[in-house]
Amino acid sequence: MSDHRGSDYVVYGTLGLARPWTMGAYKSTGGYEAWERIVRGGISRDAIIDEMKKAGVRGRGGAGFPAGVKWGFMPRDDPGEKYLVVNSDESEPGTCKDRDILRFNPHALVEGMLIACYAMNAPVGYNYMRGEFMDEPFERFEGALKEAYDAGYVGKNVLGSDISVNLYSHLGAGAYICGEETALIESLEGKKGQPRFKPPFPAQYGVYGKPTTVNNTETIASAPAVIRNGADWFISLGVENSHGMKCFSVSGHVENPGNFEVRLGTPFATLLDMAGDIWKGRTIKAVIPGGSSVPVVPGEVMMQTNMDYDSIEQAGSLLGSGAVVVMDETTCMVRMLRRISRFYYAESCGQCTPCREGTGWLYRMLVRIVDGKGTPEDLDRLMSVANNIEGRTICALGDAAAWPVQSFLKCYGHEFKFMIENGGRSLLEVQNTDNQNIGNQNIGNQNIGSRDIGAQAAE
Ligand SMILES: Cc1cc2nc3c(=O)[nH]c(=O)nc-3n(C[C@H](O)[C@H](O)[C@H](O)COP(=O)(O)O)c2cc1C
Ligand code: SF4
Repeated sequence: MSDHRGSDYVVYGTLGLARPWTMGAYKSTGGYEAWERIVRGGISRDAIIDEMKKAGVRGRGGAGFPAGVKWGFMPRDDPGEKYLVVNSDESEPGTCKDRDILRFNPHALVEGMLIACYAMNAPVGYNYMRGEFMDEPFERFEGALKEAYDAGYVGKNVLGSDISVNLYSHLGAGAYICGEETALIESLEGKKGQPRFKPPFPAQYGVYGKPTTVNNTETIASAPAVIRNGADWFISLGVENSHGMKCFSVSGHVENPGNFEVRLGTPFATLLDMAGDIWKGRTIKAVIPGGSSVPVVPGEVMMQTNMDYDSIEQAGSLLGSGAVVVMDETTCMVRMLRRISRFYYAESCGQCTPCREGTGWLYRMLVRIVDGKGTPEDLDRLMSVANNIEGRTICALGDAAAWPVQSFLKCYGHEFKFMIENGGRSLLEVQNTDNQNIGNQNIGNQNIGSRDIGAQAAE
């Protein structure tokens, strides 16, 4: 087996090896070296947390909160139960990077969980995977866990030391809201997956009411490489305020959609090139750079933007979960928004009125506009409903439903206005009357294919 040490990959380091999901493949990349050093007493809890803080590993689940700082919130010197929970719910439309960590490098997650559990003095870690992962991703992770138990890396008295850590898998039932960390905790406890009021935050009141840290799969799978190679190495991979590599799931109208682990700060144009550029020789129209909940950015702006937290914020959006949805010039933005709004309407847990009612109003108004029954007042009404959802709900699903509406209207309001004034006719149809493909190219319709933003969402 070839030695993959020295590669810059942080979480996809075993790709290219035979049976990359096995312990042998992972060890050839330097896997479990950090854990063995820790177990031999080489690195203290505080030193691990300090290294994670220094590396500036930002949470890869969406908000970008520094992982080392979060680990530091855990009252690790207090006696009693404490938990690590890995968020492998991965349901944000367009996002599929965690699935590939589970499929192709599950040992990075196992080792990351061990390191995180040790650093926070939590003897138990759970990996909560979305229900749809029940086949390959779940099985690969379970297989890796078994190998790690058999090798003595997990369990009671790891490698003969006084460290004991147990790790468990948990399968959800396929609800987007269970990706929200407190809904996930409720679901893990066997209850209905609905977000909790915060505060208290999970660091004080998490699983079974005990201190808990919830981190995304990619965040935790990054820890072994950081501890093995050092914070300076991780910092050198990215740019200021955005250190390390990041997995981007590129989907939509590109020739070669897929997951790409690249240095943070890589120009969007380079990433697009890696994904085979816009398909069918067409031109770029718009990009959703961080999963369907973040604001849309016009294509010409994205072509000048780098893929890091600050640059994408300057472009008016967020890096989010790293799901990059690319739309070509034939995309009808009204139908696209209708499709996105349907997702949030369907996935609202119904606990708070602005989200439960507002997401339905948004969706129904958009259906009305597409059906040719929109009224001129609908534009202001859409914006007003979105504004009244934003910031007024228990969890961020409300914001996630509002932001696409606000940004689509801001950047492409003329398409909505045209459709309302022309009985449901898309501006695109008029602009491209010569283009026979336009009707078939409707990204927002019900016949979505695997490249469509809605591919992750149950229709
Ligand atoms: C509606 C909703 C869905 C979410 N889905 C996910 C998800 O699928 N995976 C994830 O890691 N974080 C998701 N999050 C964010 C989590 O609540 C949490 O912030 C994250 O798991 C923390 O991990 P990180 O700090 O490593 O990013 C979601 C948040 C909301 C509001
Ligand atoms: S914002 Fe929506 S999903 Fe979140 S708790 Fe309220 S109703 Fe549920």
